[in-house]
Amino acid sequence: MALVYPRKIDLAHTPTPLQYLERASRQWGRGHRLWVKRDDLTGCTLSGNKVRKLEFIAAHAIDNGYDTLITCGGVQSNHCRATALVGAQLGLGVHLLLRGEEPADREGNLLLDQLAGAAINCYSSEYFVKNINTLFSQWQAHYADRGRKAMLVPTGGSDGIGAWGYIAACEELAADFRSAGIEQAHIVTATGSGGTQTGLTLGVALHQLPATVWGINVCDNAQYFLAKVASDTADWRRQYPDAPELDIEPRVLDGYVGQGYAIASEEVFALIAQLGRLEGLVLDPVYTGKAFAGMLAEIAAGRFQGARDIVFIHTGGVFGLFPQRAGFSRTAFTEENS
Ligand SMILES: Cc1ncc(COP(=O)(O)O)c(C=O)c1O
Repeated sequence: MALVYPRKIDLAHTPTPLQYLERASRQWGRGHRLWVKRDDLTGCTLSGNKVRKLEFIAAHAIDNGYDTLITCGGVQSNHCRATALVGAQLGLGVHLLLRGEEPADREGNLLLDQLAGAAINCYSSEYFVKNINTLFSQWQAHYADRGRKAMLVPTGGSDGIGAWGYIAACEELAADFRSAGIEQAHIVTATGSGGTQTGLTLGVALHQLPATVWGINVCDNAQYFLAKVASDTADWRRQYPDAPELDIEPRVLDGYVGQGYAIASEEVFALIAQLGRLEGLVLDPVYTGKAFAGMLAEIAAGRFQGARDIVFIHTGGVFGLFPQRAGFSRTAFTEENS
């Protein structure tokens, strides 16, 4: 049975390239070929993995008469920045509920949020965690009182609608595999709110890709993400009951969070600098840097034996690099770290 997608609005520059990392494969691959799916190139400011989800979320909003998107995330949330830009591009209002004190200097993603004209409220982490559901309802009611209709978009755009983004991306990956001669692969992604992993896991099953999907969590733990993928999948199934029955087995590689969300170790910063030198590929310390470090550790431990090819999804996040520039020690930029 052909898969029936809901409507989407074309916002991302796709297909994104699948790039072979020749020197990184030699240095770290242990016989594997390392590839990067360049989803950091889905756009310039509107870049990264969130754009794929927002193509479906924005279409849903417009088709259902919403005029405003309310969403949430950390102060440097890539998802919030992408939502702010999508809203501006489509003439929708955007209201961002951000976790963390408002910094004196608006930079990185927060500066882009502002440039895109989003309404922004920052809350202390403690208040945010306790009250986010209430805040969502209160702000939605605030817009309703003014005759507006606000759609609530969950953290990271990760839900049954957002899942379609990476289900569709798997069609691209199938074509990439054919042109690159990839017969069996491991697909590795950072997982932060679970939606990219959910979409990839469903997409691989739906499009019968010869691949296993692994999420490397950058916060929480494996148990949390196994439950999150299951609940996003259940939401997807509830909303699209005609989708084919699937037997999926999500996989999470835990152990690379370090000291906490958005806190990267010196080793991760050094790896970001090293990969920049080696391949001209730039990662960020919050998501892709940690996930890439985790992938290399798992290669060294023999996790991916049995398949020659490993595809890392570069989910973007470059704007989160700048507010964390102090994390690069002087030695990060020298060859001594290689
Ligand atoms: C750059 C980047 N990579 C990866 C992720 C993780 O994606 P997801 O939230 O779909 O798990 C996010 C967002 O959380 C992100 O901003």
